Amino acid sequence: VSTAPVRPSRAIDQGLRERARRVIPNGMYGHLNTSRFADDYPQFLARGEGARVWDVDGREFIDLMCTFGPILLGHAHPEVDAAAAATAARGDVLNCPGPEMVELAEVLVQEVEHADWAMFAKNGSDVTNLSVVVARAHTRRRKVLMARGSYHGIGAWALPPESPGTTIEDHANTVFFGYNDLDSVEAAVLDAGEDDVAAVVCTPHRHDVFIDQEPVDPAFARGVREICDRLGAMLIIDDVRCGARIDLRGGWAAVGVKPDLSAWSKSLANGYPLAGLLGTAPLGEAAAAVTATGSFWYAAAPMAAALTTIRLLKEGDGIGRMRASGIRLQEGLRAQAQAHDMAVRVTGPPQMPLMLFADDPEFARSLAWSGACAAHGVYLHPVHNWFLGTAHDEATIDEVLERTDAAFDVVRERFGTG
Ligand SMILES: Cc1ncc(COP(=O)(O)O)c(C=O)c1O
Repeated sequence: VSTAPVRPSRAIDQGLRERARRVIPNGMYGHLNTSRFADDYPQFLARGEGARVWDVDGREFIDLMCTFGPILLGHAHPEVDAAAAATAARGDVLNCPGPEMVELAEVLVQEVEHADWAMFAKNGSDVTNLSVVVARAHTRRRKVLMARGSYHGIGAWALPPESPGTTIEDHANTVFFGYNDLDSVEAAVLDAGEDDVAAVVCTPHRHDVFIDQEPVDPAFARGVREICDRLGAMLIIDDVRCGARIDLRGGWAAVGVKPDLSAWSKSLANGYPLAGLLGTAPLGEAAAAVTATGSFWYAAAPMAAALTTIRLLKEGDGIGRMRASGIRLQEGLRAQAQAHDMAVRVTGPPQMPLMLFADDPEFARSLAWSGACAAHGVYLHPVHNWFLGTAHDEATIDEVLERTDAAFDVVRERFGTG
């Protein structure tokens, strides 16, 4: 296998960027703007299949981002697509939900340990926002405690206070603590007022952008549960990024802690737009009472896709296979870095790995390495965790590692060892 990057024409991508600059804010807004990365990243992709994506100029990449999470079984999965298409052919968005909604709620209540009921929406933010609304309706309290640096979507309550377009009032009921720091949760409780805490929101592990991922300390998880019980506050797990990829039973099931509410989306339906809010029986009344709706929230085809996705994930031990591939990748990267005499930190659950360079305060090495990966046909992110799916088999991981090895060469040439 040649390690020399293939450089076909980028003309179509460049042409689209130029047109986009005229009609799309900043040419592309938000985190999807790839101009912050190395030049070799495409801005526009044309198609995906299995573990690979192709850009509009026909360049092929092994995809380690899986659409930032939604793709769990590989792009364009034939069985999932067929299930969605069959339902869509009968009617996707109708006046009322289809029978798939009941079936999917039954499956999720069966699989997710704490869940007695399910509500559905489209995006992760829909259900993180809804989780807070339900917790407030149930407790009749205002304050929500969340970890500083955690991402819970674009609801103003969850954004950093300095976010453009948000007001002081938007943030008035959010109090921050440090992930895995129980004392800071107690301090946040005092700050919020013991009798005004509606909920504590946590991700299953710490997966903030720009930093190493960190597993939850079981004592922290148990401690947060105890604090919520003491206060009568709701524990919410934001499983939008991890759910189904790491543990279908729910984010803190492995450490024996059950939340009152959990928010799911991303990988539920292998790319079809779907989100779920799951809750325990006592919160059912509040969930029924709040205003929760959206024009497309009841669409049946994504629910059919989810039923097939979850079935296939379970039948094929998808989580176990993703884990094995992730371990192969993580160990391979560590060995490569060592062979190149470079210090890196490879963190995260194997299904959601991230590699950062040890001495890289401005992320220059990460940018160079990820850019070289793109040039060699591996699509990953410089500072956000990556996502594996069941389409990443051993052979694909080995192909990835051949290409990342070449990327280490590029970084060593530019920055030296260390
Ligand atoms: C942990 C977490 N919560 C919530 C969200 C928001 O989900 P969405 O972008 O689908 O609204 C995300 C998205 O990345 C997420 O990772």
